[in-house]
Amino acid sequence: MTRIAVIGSINIDYVVETDVLPSMGETVSGKNYFLSPGGKGANQAVAASRLGAEVALYCSVGKDENGSILLRKMAKENIQLNHVNHVEGVATGAAFIELCKGENRILIVPGANEFTNSAYIQDVLTDLYQCDVFLFQLETPMEMLEFIIPLLHEKGKTIIVNPAPAYRLSETLVEKISYLIPNEHEYKTVLGTNLPYEEIIKSHPNKLIITRGKDGVTYFNGREPVQVQSVAVTPVDTTGAGDTFSGAFAVAIGEGKSLKESIRFGNIAAGLSILKKGAQSGMPTKEEIEEFMNIGVSSHESQGLFKSN
Ligand code: RIB
Repeated sequence: MTRIAVIGSINIDYVVETDVLPSMGETVSGKNYFLSPGGKGANQAVAASRLGAEVALYCSVGKDENGSILLRKMAKENIQLNHVNHVEGVATGAAFIELCKGENRILIVPGANEFTNSAYIQDVLTDLYQCDVFLFQLETPMEMLEFIIPLLHEKGKTIIVNPAPAYRLSETLVEKISYLIPNEHEYKTVLGTNLPYEEIIKSHPNKLIITRGKDGVTYFNGREPVQVQSVAVTPVDTTGAGDTFSGAFAVAIGEGKSLKESIRFGNIAAGLSILKKGAQSGMPTKEEIEEFMNIGVSSHESQGLFKSN
């Protein structure tokens, strides 16, 4: 079985649901609030684990209650946590999420995530090399990615980077990445370009995968652009949809599916994930995806739920 290593963030999400967002200096009443497990790294690990992959999470938490709660949740999801970094004197990462009409905006306080750095990674290298597919995001220090990605590349590992939140990646780093998955806004910062996505994908064939929410996913196959449609659903909460896509995509690539099939698999997982509140609660199992695909495509098409291309 493919072993997936997710190296990334883990946060407690403080989510407030509201019909109106306050302007600067204004106070408005929200409707409801809840706490849920999150962090792009942890979310991607949960997405991959629910889909049957063997997943190890490399992350850092503070020695606090939030850290313990989160790790208990991750253990229940069958995620291997043998090498988690427990950091003294610093709080576990937190995200403050405003959820308004199915869309969100997020403010993160990295806390312990800052310690998922190259010093930590050096200590876990031997174990890391046992994994085949590696999944990164950008809520942990960039110097860590700059340290580990060249080493993984030398060993011929599959390296997937979901560059969120967006920071500029050097060209040498991008060269070593197998699949780079920014959204339609992030790619400009990540690649330092103002070119439209239809143009920039041509410079990174079969590598640059641009996610465009309800408009699907686009990449260039070396000859022509390929557009893979998303699942058309009415979202309850889009938080974690990109993470579900990345986790599911990693599983499919690890299983040897083609790039297009892996994107389609990621799209279905992401589409199903936004039907429930919270980043992780709606992430589907393999059976749920199979059921969706089997009963699936024709009846969902007739209901306008799934548009195949
Ligand atoms: O991608 C969604 C995630 O971003 C949330 O769970 C939050 O923790 C932030 O990291």
